[in-house]
Amino acid sequence: MSLFIKKPLAQLLAQAAESSKGLKRSLGAMNLIALGIGAIIGAGLFVRTAAAAGQAAGPAVVISFVVAAVGCAFAGLCYAEFASMIPVAGSAYTYAYATMGEIVAWAIGWALVLEYALGAATVAISWSQYLNSLLGGAIPYEWCHSPFEISHTGVHGIMNVPSLIVLTLITLVLIKGTEESAIFNAIVVLIKVSIVLVFIALGWQYINPANYDPFFIPANAPDITMPNGQVHSYSSWFNHGIGGVIRGAGIVFFAFIGFDAVSTAAQETKNPKKDMPIGILGSLVICTILYVLFSHVLTGVAPYTDFIKEGKEASVAYAIKQYMPGYNWLATLMSAAILAGFSTVILAMLYGQSRVFFSMSNDGLLPRVFSQLHPTFRTPYKSNLILLVFVGAFAGFVPESVTGDLTSVGTLFAFIMVCLGVWIMRKTDPNVERPFRTPLVPLVPILGVLVCTGMIIGLDPNTQLVALIWLVIGLVIYFTYSKKNSLLRKK
Ligand code: ALA
Repeated sequence: MSLFIKKPLAQLLAQAAESSKGLKRSLGAMNLIALGIGAIIGAGLFVRTAAAAGQAAGPAVVISFVVAAVGCAFAGLCYAEFASMIPVAGSAYTYAYATMGEIVAWAIGWALVLEYALGAATVAISWSQYLNSLLGGAIPYEWCHSPFEISHTGVHGIMNVPSLIVLTLITLVLIKGTEESAIFNAIVVLIKVSIVLVFIALGWQYINPANYDPFFIPANAPDITMPNGQVHSYSSWFNHGIGGVIRGAGIVFFAFIGFDAVSTAAQETKNPKKDMPIGILGSLVICTILYVLFSHVLTGVAPYTDFIKEGKEASVAYAIKQYMPGYNWLATLMSAAILAGFSTVILAMLYGQSRVFFSMSNDGLLPRVFSQLHPTFRTPYKSNLILLVFVGAFAGFVPESVTGDLTSVGTLFAFIMVCLGVWIMRKTDPNVERPFRTPLVPLVPILGVLVCTGMIIGLDPNTQLVALIWLVIGLVIYFTYSKKNSLLRKK
């Protein structure tokens, strides 16, 4: 039987209808926007913005945000069509099963692990940075860093303990159920948006125009040598100028991840056909506006070179303490709010991951354990616990820059596939009801593919290699387990 066996659309829709027997339908449009913003604003803004500016883009990181937003907008329009048409848990994975066949669906599901699981790990690591900043650096370096990191004074990391603690707490919240977590999420979203606005308003007055000159990192920018001897060079094409902006886009792309997590909640949405597009596109627009303003202020307050040195960690708190005299209280307030803010991102990522596995397991591509629901809470609790171990392994022992870039690659891959899927489905199933139609097909999907591919190409070659190895591991699992157990094939 073909590797590209497709799940009939009718079967998917029947599955969606039947879902009332499984997960609970409790979310509305506003819950989805809240879930979206809750999942979106996080480490991407508060940690990766500075990384992108320091490593490659400089103050032009603002343009990186625009490039990333454009890629996301194209992909988001495609997601919205799918999410309204096939309101089933599982997101890009599910859409691919219906359009491009089982092996592609598997590859996407596997790439989504990079997105959600490693995304959760990245934010957990960032959480640890801001906790340490809030505590005035009281956590010993070795216990809040991975073994692959060395401090400026030469101390080696051992294990990132705070990130493991936060992951455990959030897993417990998730197991208890999404209704309560939606209320918690809504409160945190309010706090999070407020602190972003406060930083933009107060920081604006401390912008030093000299920090915007030059706007693009020049090709001859001097290397930066850290006190521990590590050197960062700007000479390669993707580390300065326009190339740097493209690499920066791949890095800050992380900040947009999450709007697609909205689509993983389709089966728990009251009126998915109407609410899905509103939830996905609405949260994307709000975040883009905030990001552009925020990154403009951050790179105006502190010079980008700081973000490769002492301002690398908890960069926003650093910039405030260093360049906004008298505002230490703001750094403290923001760090506390960021800690709360990150927790909803981790929540959404872990939630998305468990729901993708839920779908894959229901299809027989993963073991049953990933779709077994808790008798009382009706959440996939076993899956949540297994994920805790997996995500924890990354959060505890791998640096944030590595997990962050891998998250970007995995997600970009999924976005590309969703763009292609919309186009393919318009040809294969032109008459299916589409409550939301992506405009200008195939132009929008093609542009989505191009911009997202460009961002993957811009990222570090080592990251690309690891992502490729991850895909190969996934294919080995597919051929040794999933293909044999696929329920679609058994039928
Ligand atoms: N977009 C999410 C963040 O920035 C993943 O943390």
